[in-house]
Amino acid sequence: MYDESVTIIENKKVNAEYYKLVFASKHLSQKVKPGQFLNIQMENHEGLLLRRPFSYYRVGGKKIEILYEILGRGTALLAEKRRGHALKALGPLGKPFTQKLNGKKRILVAGGVGVPPLIFLAETAPHLTSPRESRGREKEGLVLLIGCKSKSEVLPRRELTKVKGEILYSTNDGSYGRKGFVTVLLHELLENEHPNSLFIQTCGPNAMMDAVMKLAEEFGVEGEASIDERMACGVGACLGCVVETREGFKTSCVEGPVFSFAELV
Ligand SMILES: Cc1cc2nc3c(=O)[nH]c(=O)nc-3n(C[C@H](O)[C@H](O)[C@H](O)COP(=O)(O)OP(=O)(O)OC[C@H]3O[C@@H](n4cnc5c(N)ncnc54)[C@H](O)[C@@H]3O)c2cc1C
Ligand code: FES
Repeated sequence: MYDESVTIIENKKVNAEYYKLVFASKHLSQKVKPGQFLNIQMENHEGLLLRRPFSYYRVGGKKIEILYEILGRGTALLAEKRRGHALKALGPLGKPFTQKLNGKKRILVAGGVGVPPLIFLAETAPHLTSPRESRGREKEGLVLLIGCKSKSEVLPRRELTKVKGEILYSTNDGSYGRKGFVTVLLHELLENEHPNSLFIQTCGPNAMMDAVMKLAEEFGVEGEASIDERMACGVGACLGCVVETREGFKTSCVEGPVFSFAELV
């Protein structure tokens, strides 16, 4: 884990909902896995001492990309930063998503601030098992389901060209993809596949993930969720991010944010 001052290379709007922040760091970009995050401080603004957690969206060499939405004061301030401005970033933090699924098909269910880590996973997931394990099977397979409020939130095509699988969208108002919540797409998929051959990985608003976990339970499909818990220190010291699990309370920043469905209460 490293705490560094980084200089912004790019910080621009990509659509109505998301901004993309780019900076470079040799240390913060090392051995990063999808689901891990950075705790970022927007310089020393009065009354905004706490850092804010953001998932890694993409890492290429030393370059790190973050995709974010404006939610409150911190993210609004972040959106005002320009090339050359400095930020403090602590990372890589947290437990990542499971990479190897031993032949299971990966079903990624994303919404809102949960879209960036799942695109990262969809771009980098070890798609082919080793020749010995794969025994001639071609691919584990991957489907990325993204839920948006409307078409204006849909990411530009260029942001999704490296995804190694099928991408399906739903919008609440029906302006793009399937009309309704992303669970409509998930339900259809679960009805047509064998539960033992699937593994769900989800990140997004807690209400969305609750609905995903309910469906997973109904169909008997295993999976894991990256919990969207408010954080402060990011390193397990303040206990501000504890979540209740079947094994007691756990810190979301160190023991999560990714937890198996079976673990979560
Ligand atoms: C592990 C993790 C990874 C994240 N990755 C990303 C990412 O890649 N991109 C991105 O845009 N955002 C991400 N977030 C959410 C991001 O941290 C918050 O949007 C940010 O902290 C809000 O700060 P703010 O000062 O703008 O809002 P605040 O002023 O702190 O809050 C504004 C409003 O948003 C609510 N809020 C704040 N944080 C959260 C949260 N975590 N969940 C739900 N509601 C919240 C508050 O209750 C309040 O109503 C992530 C959060 C976690 C825990
Ligand atoms: S944010 Fe402090 S313990 Fe997790």
